Amino acid sequence: MRIGVLTGGGDCPGLNAVIRAAVRAGHRRYGQEFVGIRRGWRGLLDRDTTPLDPDVVRGIIDRGGTILGSSRTNPYSHEGGAQAACDSMTALGLDALIAIGGEDTLGVANRLYHEFGLMTVGVPKTIDNDLSGTDYTFGFWTAVQIVVDAIDRLKTTAESHDRVIVLEVMGRHAGWIAFESGLAGGADAILVPEFPAHPERIVDYLRAREANGKHFAIIVVSEGVQLGDVSPIGARDEFGHQALAAVGVGERLATYIASVTGKEARAVVLGHLQRGGTPTAYDRALATRFGVHAARMVDDGAFGRMAALRGTQIVDIPIDDAVGTLKTVPESQFADAEVFFG
Ligand code: F6P
Repeated sequence: MRIGVLTGGGDCPGLNAVIRAAVRAGHRRYGQEFVGIRRGWRGLLDRDTTPLDPDVVRGIIDRGGTILGSSRTNPYSHEGGAQAACDSMTALGLDALIAIGGEDTLGVANRLYHEFGLMTVGVPKTIDNDLSGTDYTFGFWTAVQIVVDAIDRLKTTAESHDRVIVLEVMGRHAGWIAFESGLAGGADAILVPEFPAHPERIVDYLRAREANGKHFAIIVVSEGVQLGDVSPIGARDEFGHQALAAVGVGERLATYIASVTGKEARAVVLGHLQRGGTPTAYDRALATRFGVHAARMVDDGAFGRMAALRGTQIVDIPIDDAVGTLKTVPESQFADAEVFFG
């Protein structure tokens, strides 16, 4: 079997560990051959490939990013793109394709399988952890660890200055990163896109903390949180300088808190720091197990399916079950975190 491998969407710690594992397991166990497809679906359309064999993947388990490159190209957004992707598979002599990606990349792999019979296998990647059908996606816990490290550092500076620090983290539709990192970092409040944000409650928590002699606070907020009718109010500093107009939710919330409580508040946006660098041990192991399983799935002919973590086991499930609905933070789980607010 000659297998194409591509990585699509935002990069994620552990991508190289998956590639390494699939190539090494596939080569050793099943005599599979691999071809790297550069920059996600873009590379398949352009027939832009790179050699992929056990020597190429040596020593990359700890490397962040993806040696194949990535893009957000969607063949279905290009006239005749889906057919062109299939034609490329034939032209490149590929029998199957391992697509490592999130909702978007796997959605394309799924459609190409159902509509064109392309032999696709999926591996669930996203720091957002919002793919259904798997307990965790690889890369997620690395992002959480990065946020927790940031919270630990922000706490000491917030405490030294009696400030509120609002930490904005990734998560447009699902608040997993904010939820788990806020829980692990001991945040004083967490806001996620799944539930309505009540900024006035945050102010209540802060007042309760003040009453308890705690003059600083850390609030973790997902970038996708909607703040309703709380409008940014540019507070003036002692030199009369107006704060810059806020765009992100972190900045808006910090400005609101400062204006209502009179406390100093700062926003920190972690952004792509959450996606870069080396994966944690957990993510390296999970990514490796996913990669080994993907090679096995190709050998078994388990196409249109995705490797998934269920409990402690790696299984495979129809991609249909993973891409239909986003996996969001359940209300009951969030309620347990609320015990620690304030
Ligand atoms: O990979 C998912 C994600 O990290 C989101 O949480 C974030 O909003 C988005 O990617 C940003 O990606 P980019 O800046 O690469 O478009």
